Amino acid sequence: MDARDLLRSVRMAGSARGRRTVAAAWRRERADARDLPRYGAERARVPGAAVRAEPMPGGGTVHFARSVLRVRVAAGGAVFCGWDGAAPEPSYALAGPSTWSPAPGLADGGCPAADPRALLEPDQGGWRVVSERVTVRVSAHGAVEFRTPGGRLLRRELPPRWWDPAGAAEGTRGARWVQRSETPADARVYGLGGRAAGPRLAAGTYRLWNTDPGSPFEPGDDPLYITMPVQLLVSDAGCHLVFHDNTWDGRVTLRDGEEGAGSGHDRHGGCELRMDGGPLRYWVVAGTPSRVLAGWTALTGRPALPPRWALGHQHARWGFGSGQEVRRVAAGYREHGLPLSALHLDIDHFDGHRVFTVDRARFPDLPGLAHDLGEQGVRLVSVVGPAVKREPGLAAYDGGRAVDAFVRDARGREVRGTVWPGEAVFPDFTDPAVRAWWGGLYAERLAQGFAGVRHDMNEPVSFAAFGEPTLPRSARHALEGAGGDHRQAHNVYGLAMAAAGYQGLRELRPEQRPFLVSRSGWAGMQRYGGTWSGDVATGWAGLRASLALVLGLGLCGVPYSGPDVGGFTGSPSPELYLRWFQLGAYLPFFRTHSAIDAGPREPWEFGPEVLEHARAALAERARLLPYLDTLAHVAHRTGAPYVRPLWWNSPGDRALRDCGDAFLLGDSLLVAPVLEPGVTMRAVRLPRGLWYDTATGEAHRGRTRVRLAAPQGRIPVLARAGAVLPVAGEGGAVELEAWAPRRDRSGGGVLFTGDPDGWGRPRMERFVSRWADGAVLVEQDGGEEPGYAVRVRGAGS
Ligand code: NOJ
Repeated sequence: MDARDLLRSVRMAGSARGRRTVAAAWRRERADARDLPRYGAERARVPGAAVRAEPMPGGGTVHFARSVLRVRVAAGGAVFCGWDGAAPEPSYALAGPSTWSPAPGLADGGCPAADPRALLEPDQGGWRVVSERVTVRVSAHGAVEFRTPGGRLLRRELPPRWWDPAGAAEGTRGARWVQRSETPADARVYGLGGRAAGPRLAAGTYRLWNTDPGSPFEPGDDPLYITMPVQLLVSDAGCHLVFHDNTWDGRVTLRDGEEGAGSGHDRHGGCELRMDGGPLRYWVVAGTPSRVLAGWTALTGRPALPPRWALGHQHARWGFGSGQEVRRVAAGYREHGLPLSALHLDIDHFDGHRVFTVDRARFPDLPGLAHDLGEQGVRLVSVVGPAVKREPGLAAYDGGRAVDAFVRDARGREVRGTVWPGEAVFPDFTDPAVRAWWGGLYAERLAQGFAGVRHDMNEPVSFAAFGEPTLPRSARHALEGAGGDHRQAHNVYGLAMAAAGYQGLRELRPEQRPFLVSRSGWAGMQRYGGTWSGDVATGWAGLRASLALVLGLGLCGVPYSGPDVGGFTGSPSPELYLRWFQLGAYLPFFRTHSAIDAGPREPWEFGPEVLEHARAALAERARLLPYLDTLAHVAHRTGAPYVRPLWWNSPGDRALRDCGDAFLLGDSLLVAPVLEPGVTMRAVRLPRGLWYDTATGEAHRGRTRVRLAAPQGRIPVLARAGAVLPVAGEGGAVELEAWAPRRDRSGGGVLFTGDPDGWGRPRMERFVSRWADGAVLVEQDGGEEPGYAVRVRGAGS
């Protein structure tokens, strides 16, 4: 507490909420000062010299003078390294309730068995483990190198350094540590969760601590709601993902390499990871981008498959004042002939902002409202926050107390914070019994007619007049029975809440796939659902940040996400709104949303021209639904995100690695949104291959930079030559849109169809396209005629 904090406290004391935030901040500071372990002197430690090594299935253990390193190649090719005896489990990233796995071989996450073929063997004064995808080399002082089977360096981890609390045994949980690594000079880094400044992460420091920025964010704001120690690196040597399985607060500092212009004097790039505590253990997954994401989601779980309706347009607002207002908005969509899939209700439909209640004066008949909207094909989605009003008599509070659900401090008292409903307590989702109790509460939401949920404020947020707006670091958590404090539990709070919600919905309504988006989360959150941007600032910078978040999260294994279209705050200009809408129409989670004091976000509020263009974007979204649905299935089976960076299929093309303003939508489309004002043409560098401008049919050669028309009415979208794209034709029937392959090549595509919101096994069909007798022929994989109408495009170019 400094003079500034004191000043802020005095200022805030003018209102009841202000006073509560001051009290909560003081309480948090006091608790931490009192209860956090105090370390006196620390002793620095490095592994020292290697003493001996023992081979074990998958690799082995190298004993150093002052630590032990375990290397284990898992079936599937991911490599685990654990120092100081750290094992892969327990892990919040790897574990989790089993998700739907319709076909054998689809992983739910969990630690895979060791690959018995990989063994530690002596090598030039150190040791090596050779595996199919990488060769790991451990030096006699504890540096660990990862190379491709061809011998190219992917990364080198230098010997780590710990600071052990004096008097504590080596390798105690409290030890801080740092690990530096070297990466190829041309490597580019992506990921670390949702980063507004991405997708490529520039040199700088990024914090690992899930944070509500408290006000609308822009690219300069970091960290945000979802942080995760997951980095995906792309270099000429290859692509790999490194995941430090540690939930504590930390900082990643990235340093750019310098390419020596062919002189051979490259200075490697680098990363320094500093963690406040927790195990030093990490996984490396190497291969092509698609193999890396497949390997990563085999470890941490495949992305949940959203119900099909979740791929349609959704509309939200903080501040729908009543049931009538919700009906009016739905009617507006209908009257303007605009498709709408879901409406989201925010905290204002609760009674006094209490979670799992309804304001019956303003929303007298929610089930009736849900039913009537359902008849029009519109679902209701409910916001759900973790904070429960501390109010005896309130079912969620009493029920929670009965099962001892709420986070306590070191002296055993419930930790009190302050959120929307006032003074509140927080379920400890790191306790399986609490997750089970919480999951049961969703019965109330289902009874009100909600089709899905959006978890909010789960970083978790407790408003504070000063300092961090979250729980005290000293707050106690069950951590699956291991026990620990908020320093360790904070980053997985949202993930564990998602597990609770997902499991609850599965049990309560077993016949339907849950719809869940969660503002906060951690590695593995994709098992339970997706996420959204959070409170992105309304402005062109916010628009750019929206795309950065979706791309970056996709590379961390979380493919279903999207921004608040139009931005969270204020009022976008018609042009900005339209460009946001046009981008959103190609992102997995397509939802307009805004803050309580912001302007409207309905497409008809921005003038007739914007309305017509928004209508065209919605129509194109509807036409692409079979393709988006297919991409959802592909993501669920393989971890490949719907929205991919341009280098996805050409990681060796350096010119694509810094591109943050265009993306691939699946294998077939390239989308080049307009992210600046006043633009009617824009440039894009195309990946290899041949690409057709879908508006004009004009063909463009890959590996060139082209300028494309981007009039107000549309953004440039290109189709890959040879693509066979499932689209909705007249009356909604699936048709195949085939883009002519190059004369000397063939092409293809896939289509998943099946249960729109249940668990039935989908049907997968593959198609191939090729030239035959001067025409483009599309066949089913086995050579039969496809059972769908085929429209060939681009054949005349
Ligand atoms: C913060 C969320 O990010 C936002 O989407 C929501 O509208 C407000 N909380 C109010 O619930």
